[in-house]
Amino acid sequence: MDSIVINGGNALMGEIAITGAKNSALKLMVAALLTDEPVTLSNMPELADTKFLAHLLRHLGAKVIENPQQSAMTITAGGLGEPEAPYDLVRKMRATFNVLGPLLARKGHAKVSLPGGCAIGARPVDLHLQALEALGAKITLEEGYAIANAPNGLSGAKINFPFVSVGATEHTMMTAVLADGITELSNAAKEPEITDLANMLNSMGAKIENAGQDTITITGVKKLGGVTHGVVPDRIEAGTYALAAGACPNSDVTITNCQPEHLEALWAAMSRAGIEVIAGEKQVRIKRGTKPLRPVDIETNAWPGFATDLQAQFMALMVLADGASIIRETIFENRFMHAPELSRLGADITVHGREAVVRGVNELTGAPVMATDLRASVSLIIAGLAAKGQTSVSRIYHLDRGFQNLEANFSALGADIKRVKDT
Ligand code: UD1
Repeated sequence: MDSIVINGGNALMGEIAITGAKNSALKLMVAALLTDEPVTLSNMPELADTKFLAHLLRHLGAKVIENPQQSAMTITAGGLGEPEAPYDLVRKMRATFNVLGPLLARKGHAKVSLPGGCAIGARPVDLHLQALEALGAKITLEEGYAIANAPNGLSGAKINFPFVSVGATEHTMMTAVLADGITELSNAAKEPEITDLANMLNSMGAKIENAGQDTITITGVKKLGGVTHGVVPDRIEAGTYALAAGACPNSDVTITNCQPEHLEALWAAMSRAGIEVIAGEKQVRIKRGTKPLRPVDIETNAWPGFATDLQAQFMALMVLADGASIIRETIFENRFMHAPELSRLGADITVHGREAVVRGVNELTGAPVMATDLRASVSLIIAGLAAKGQTSVSRIYHLDRGFQNLEANFSALGADIKRVKDT
């Protein structure tokens, strides 16, 4: 297994371009199942997760052409085969489960294994299943599979989500576009990735109104066509590089090809910590001086709140702040697995349920640590960059799920970081 070895303490300087958003790309790939015409995605990230999903789409009968040199992928789901997604092609990540609705809409029946994904909590799919049932699906759970039938087709419905779910909003939206009549989704998620998906579906001929707002209205259409669509920039990748620059004194990093307006909650927290954030339209410059960071409390929330996918990285900064901060995780019940690993570098963190109390220390010192999930692992990289001495992060297959060229990007910014093959 590979690991990443960092000799910490360097300032980060220069420019880094952001890729398309993993969390959007995966849902856009699934949405390609809704048409028999080619769907070309540009600004596509090249990640273990997108490759894994491409395998599943091929298994379902779609033709997938990956073109990483052009950051593009074309999916043609003309001749779909048996709509069955086995456990082995689903278990590694939750986004795969979203094939259930599109397959059902196209074929009238589908069988999809219940999903796996990061070990950051229970992460059930009950809201997904209830919403599909509201659209007319008959669903049974058998031997780890969701088996869905819509013998009379799908029809529009009023669905009020009991709480905000990104996955369930996306899944229902992409299923309802081919249902008969009008669907109204209230208490819908408002993340930029929802808007990105709606924009692509509308370009394919769907009729979705008010995506990005609390209530989304979808008027079903009979058929969707092909499209070429650029994936929205990855706000989590942008935020991660911004936080890395903020963690390393004397850094000055400009992050390009991003949409800074998607990260207002992060910029507010970083500014309060004493990091200079100069946001433009498509780029943001992060300047960190030499003074210690100020402690800042944060609470994760659905968009436009502080993203749960940036919580671990923010904690990596607060461990070096001049005082104590409280980090509250409201989305997932088990998302502090980075805390004990950060403590191995000298951090002082106490976790009580959904709250972590972080008491800033003067310095971190390098140590071997282990990645536990995608975003947790990159928080260990940030801490390693800010620590004195050598840090090695093992189990970095988690990182490869969601960050393209991570160590090359940090090297180009001046970090001493390399990937080491385990012999
Ligand atoms: C969540 C994050 C998203 C992040 C992604 C990957 C939010 C609101 N969502 O999206 O920003 O990019 O993880 O880390 O911040 N839930 C149920 N039943 C369901 C669906 C969800 O109980 O059927 C619960 C989840 O366990 C969780 C909450 O609802 O506690 C929000 O989940 P959801 O937004 O669906 O998760 P993801 O789509 O994975």
